[in-house]
Amino acid sequence: MSDETAERHGSGKGVPRHIAIVMDGNGRWARARLMPRQAGHRAGAEAVRRVVEAAGQMGVEVLTLFAFSSENWARPQEEVSVLMELFVRTLEKESIRLHEHNVRIRMIGERTRLSSRLREQIEAAEALTADNTGMTLVIAASFGGRWDIVQATRRIAADARDGRLDPEALQEQDVASYLSLNGLPDADLLIRTGGEKRISNFLLWHLAYAELHFVDTLWPDFGAEDLRDAVDVFAGRERRFGRTGDQVGRFGRA
Ligand code: IPE
Ligand code: IPE
Ligand code: MG
Repeated sequence: MSDETAERHGSGKGVPRHIAIVMDGNGRWARARLMPRQAGHRAGAEAVRRVVEAAGQMGVEVLTLFAFSSENWARPQEEVSVLMELFVRTLEKESIRLHEHNVRIRMIGERTRLSSRLREQIEAAEALTADNTGMTLVIAASFGGRWDIVQATRRIAADARDGRLDPEALQEQDVASYLSLNGLPDADLLIRTGGEKRISNFLLWHLAYAELHFVDTLWPDFGAEDLRDAVDVFAGRERRFGRTGDQVGRFGRA
């Protein structure tokens, strides 16, 4: 790391407020080692631990991790069960430690599809860490960007029907307040590991102006140094938000 980079990381300058990660490549990591896919998911959980710690140290405000998509329910039942069991055990093991590190845990996704045991585990972790003031760790499980928009639209329509909302007066920030990430800033940086260059129905609204960073590294191999590299790339991008380069100049940089 260059001195300048170290300084940036140390001061929090140039560090994205909100990093969202599509943690992809567990299965291929396992296959390359002639191991079952579940071994890849277990190794992936270790990578989560490393990356959460590194993000916290860098001063990231919000870290959103895509753990299980609406579409992942279509995987073989056995793999789904392994993943759910891994979530339960990881939450059980990690909540206390995250709480000690002042991390606030929040889960987004269709909870009714999760087992009651996992739901209780999530509620307990959220309640335990609700008043923490450090990084917010958002776990997206049984989550889809379209599902989020549909659940928001249902509630918006119901509020309009019941006279709690004037449809004509609806603004962008009002719509955002119905979405699962209500109250949190938009994603500044999206990282996807595993080589695919797609969003796979992750955050749709909140990625509107995110910088995209795709790496071939498989998720279980991703670590603190890779996160720092991604943040360096981000810091070198010029974010223009529709303006011209002259308008934003160097002050428009991340
Ligand atoms: C990401 O790894 C984890 C989940 C989607 C739950 P994959 O399981 O998709 O791994 P690959 O893409 O098959 O390698
Ligand atoms: C995206 O990975 C979802 C998660 C990482 C949780 P997938 O492996 O499911 O994505 P696709 O299906 O290849 O696009
Ligand atoms: Mg995949």
